[in-house]
Amino acid sequence: MSTHIGAAKGDIAESILLPGDPLRAKYIAEKFFDNPIQFNNVRGMLGYTGTYKGKRVSTMGTGMGIPSISIYVTELLKEYGCKNLVRVGTCGGLLPEIGLKDIILAQGACTDNAFLNIFPGHYAPIANFDLLRTAHDLACQRNIKTYVGLVKSSDMFYYENVPGSEYWTQYGVIGVEMEAAALYTIAAKYKARALAICSVSDSAFIDHELTALERERNLDNMLTLALDTVLAID
Ligand code: HPA
Repeated sequence: MSTHIGAAKGDIAESILLPGDPLRAKYIAEKFFDNPIQFNNVRGMLGYTGTYKGKRVSTMGTGMGIPSISIYVTELLKEYGCKNLVRVGTCGGLLPEIGLKDIILAQGACTDNAFLNIFPGHYAPIANFDLLRTAHDLACQRNIKTYVGLVKSSDMFYYENVPGSEYWTQYGVIGVEMEAAALYTIAAKYKARALAICSVSDSAFIDHELTALERERNLDNMLTLALDTVLAID
């Protein structure tokens, strides 16, 4: 047991998929795992371990935003020895050519959250190259429209009229989400691999929304991409 995860040591696999939504973790386990066993329900943050194509894999929700994911990821790394952490989430697209359902592989993540202020300079959180390269290769093989680049892990979802916010896109940020910067930074501390795979759910340049069926199909493409990525990593 750790403070926020009610699992015994050994209950959680070295590779774990991390959606924000705990019910999405349940969906992943039920749809893609053989013999899933629930290892956590503390605060409703569901977590499961099962096998995928014969490999032991886990999934657990992280909640939304940097404070929430930081708690779970720290405990997964420190108390349970996780080695490969793949966030599977959504993001907003910040380039006109990025469409809904496209995938952004977050090569790096900047943030307006204060936790990087622990550094005496400006730390640059980056994805693990093995995970990034593997996910990119698989996405290309599957003809999934994929962008690799910098995301911003924002502390605000409803982001209006913040002075200077145009700088993010001017300096190459292609997507906005709320967790990757913390995932990458904490994984680096514990010498683990991390990657955020984000499906584009909205865009400042697009005014229509995805249908429920489109969302589900798209989600499944991202989830199998993430699962096959960790399968290909030792
Ligand atoms: N902002 C932050 N997080 C998000 C967004 C967004 O626009 N879309 C999906 N996740």
